[in-house]
Amino acid sequence: MQLSTKHLLGIKDLQKSDIESILTTAKQFKEVLQRPIKKVPSLRDTTIVNLFYENSTRTRISFELAEKRLSADTINFSSSASSVSKGESLLDTVNNILSMKVDMVVMRHSASGAPHFLAKHIPAAIINAGDGINEHPTQALLDAFSIVERLGNLEGKKIVLIGDIMHSRVALSNIYLLKKMGAEIMVAGPPTLIPKHITEALGVKVEYNLKKALQWCDVANVLRIQLERQNQVLFSSLREYNLAYGVNKKLLDSLNKEIVIMHPGPINRGVEIDSDVADSNQSIILQQVENGVAIRMAVLYLLSDKSVSN
Ligand code: CP
Repeated sequence: MQLSTKHLLGIKDLQKSDIESILTTAKQFKEVLQRPIKKVPSLRDTTIVNLFYENSTRTRISFELAEKRLSADTINFSSSASSVSKGESLLDTVNNILSMKVDMVVMRHSASGAPHFLAKHIPAAIINAGDGINEHPTQALLDAFSIVERLGNLEGKKIVLIGDIMHSRVALSNIYLLKKMGAEIMVAGPPTLIPKHITEALGVKVEYNLKKALQWCDVANVLRIQLERQNQVLFSSLREYNLAYGVNKKLLDSLNKEIVIMHPGPINRGVEIDSDVADSNQSIILQQVENGVAIRMAVLYLLSDKSVSN
């Protein structure tokens, strides 16, 4: 099995068959992860650098674990502990790392397009672990895998993304992926956090009333407000945001059905979601994190030379 692309820069560039290959391979790796011995030799002699220019808990640990489970050699780089703080450029940093014979680069950066820039300049396979407000492809893939695990498939499923759609790379990657796989998508939140003309641009429904959005959907993917990416006041206060758009148990109990609750993390409890929802049986938040390892194993394997030679 092979992907149609050398890099994973975004879901936008993937074909439906690529997404299907990644989900199928991830299912096989998830079975490996249930075994007493969770390690396979698939990426022995492959060297991977994890290049994190922006903070991360889940994605970084998940990639590191996926690489270890595949027996790859790994190098971890964080910009705060590197010569970036002495003024070294992104390209110089990466060329120095590559001269140590690195095969693949996993990269998170606060600038949209940073991994695309690297892909144009260096020969290694690049995997985007989140770039600015652009894309977070492995998050969308693990979200899709988790929905399929719970509901059987994506075709025709109604999925609402709630919250700060404007600044969310998770939202954009989810929209690209879910549309390619035949799901119906709605975005919900305050008008100031939803891009104008998103229906024309991306073919999604828009709803400003949270209860109506929840009544419509099979799955609600609740997003954090990305305060670090906002340079103007886009809503009055976190308390008022919670009153209008916070997903709480009373609201879910008022629906005439049980929906699946997702969140990519990190969660701001009491803002976009309450604890009695995040920790409930309706929530698959921790299953998403668990599935992230299998998805990243699949992506790393399918983009490696080992997959090409099989
Ligand atoms: N979901 C996600 O990207 O989380 P981190 O920022 O902790 O990696």
